[in-house]
Amino acid sequence: MGSLSSLLILLFLHLIQSSSSPIKVVNLGGWLVTEGWITPDLFDQIPINKDLLDGTQINLKSVTQNRFLCAENGGGSIVVANQLSASDWGTFKLWRITEKTFQFRAFKWQFFELNDHKHLIAVSTSSQNSDPSKTFELIRKDNDPNRIRLRAPNGFFLQANSDGSVTADHPEKTNWDDQSTFLLTVVVQLKGEFQVTNAYGHDKASSVMMEHWNSFIVEDDFKFMSENGLNAVKIPVGWWIMFDPNPPNPFVGGSWQTLDKAFNWAKKYNLKVIIDLHAVPGSQNGWDHSGTRDGFQSWGQTDDTIEQPVDVIEFLASRYADKPELYAIELINEPLAPGVTLNKLKKYYEAGYNATRRHTDVHVIMSNRLRIKDQTELIHFASSFAGSVIDVHYYNMFSSMFKRMTVQQNIDYVYNNRASVLNSLMVSNGPLVFVGEWVDEMGVANASKEDYQRFGEAQLDVYGRATFGWSYWTFRIPYNHWSLEWMIKNGYITL
Ligand SMILES: *[C@@H]1O[C@H](CO)[C@@H](O)[C@H](O)[C@H]1NC(C)=O
Ligand SMILES: *[C@@H]1O[C@H](CO)[C@@H](O)[C@H](O)[C@H]1NC(C)=O
Repeated sequence: MGSLSSLLILLFLHLIQSSSSPIKVVNLGGWLVTEGWITPDLFDQIPINKDLLDGTQINLKSVTQNRFLCAENGGGSIVVANQLSASDWGTFKLWRITEKTFQFRAFKWQFFELNDHKHLIAVSTSSQNSDPSKTFELIRKDNDPNRIRLRAPNGFFLQANSDGSVTADHPEKTNWDDQSTFLLTVVVQLKGEFQVTNAYGHDKASSVMMEHWNSFIVEDDFKFMSENGLNAVKIPVGWWIMFDPNPPNPFVGGSWQTLDKAFNWAKKYNLKVIIDLHAVPGSQNGWDHSGTRDGFQSWGQTDDTIEQPVDVIEFLASRYADKPELYAIELINEPLAPGVTLNKLKKYYEAGYNATRRHTDVHVIMSNRLRIKDQTELIHFASSFAGSVIDVHYYNMFSSMFKRMTVQQNIDYVYNNRASVLNSLMVSNGPLVFVGEWVDEMGVANASKEDYQRFGEAQLDVYGRATFGWSYWTFRIPYNHWSLEWMIKNGYITL
């Protein structure tokens, strides 16, 4: 085929796409990228220290001093045991090295280690997983698991001294009421793909994840979606998919074959597929669903981190380019401001767009940054990329403003605020606009079924005007209102 005719075909495809009507989509959250609140059962079989996964934030209080452990200045100095309350500086993030050994990161991300083989400090932000000089054994008291001791790399136990210092010089013997005893409180847990796979270890994780991928979403679900008015699925994937079948530890292989299966089912039931790169190397927001180990957001800090996910996009685009079901590729999910700057994000979007275009003419979705004031910050930029789409996520939650709202105020907010922001995004010759996540849930206690029907209707009405379409978060989850499957089956939402 001559290059002129291929060009004409590309132009023709482009015309079809840009004139197509908005699509109704559901996210398949928690399938290929783990989120603990979507699949709590996935964590059930972790045998030991199930509450101490990677990224768990803890406080430690000396039982004799009755004071909390604290990294001075939040890190970069010594660790002391003299604080009356556990602030940020007294909150530490875990790295789970084995079932019983851990590394600890201070507020500013330095790791615990010993100075002069004795004094506890937190000064270095880097660690190899197996670095024994930063690894502590955590021993829990039988029948009182929040009473703990930490064996330091020198073989002795940490103890909190009366002058507030913390040293590793307590011998083995303890009555669990001495200076080497600490009370552990879990503040926050992370439950993502890193946590679940690392806690199981490679072999067990491989079978647990394979079982999950094979059972959490099945062919019948695609049939159900198709029969109930949906046009497409949006499938979150993690960066490790490109290294299947042998992704870097602790991730395990198999997500690729699962995505292949999804394409087959999509074909059979006449659904489109949007691939959504939900987790990039280094994490773009520090949340569970970004594949992070400990909540540190390093993606976007430097130019080389920007480059890494471009390869993942290139892989996905080349692998699925010949599938007619492929409808769009989303370059990244929910990059978080201010850690991810607008300039760095634009660099990535340009490179990711080019990588997609080397293989396919499908829509390229660019996610707005979260926590920005100006929702239009990408509109002008995106206008210069044919087939680009801007993704915005709308939840009447996660802000105190929504907690005080009545049902009617929630509905009014959608018709007034959401609608006007959406309008400001939809400019002529601009990108298409996608409400890529929303849910029929609100912070009103005991709202009735009819309330949810009205709130759902309002959102369908307003988000239905988005030029690209909308996508519900999510298909299946143990929280009824968050599950589009449940909402459809129980008559709350009709498409
Ligand atoms: C993307 O492609 C355009 C057009 O070919 C080119 O001008 C631009 O330099 C490319 N950008 C990147 C980051 O590769
Ligand atoms: C909501 O319902 C629960 C259980 O029926 C009840 O205990 C609670 O007081 C109700 N809350 C409000 C705000 O009506």
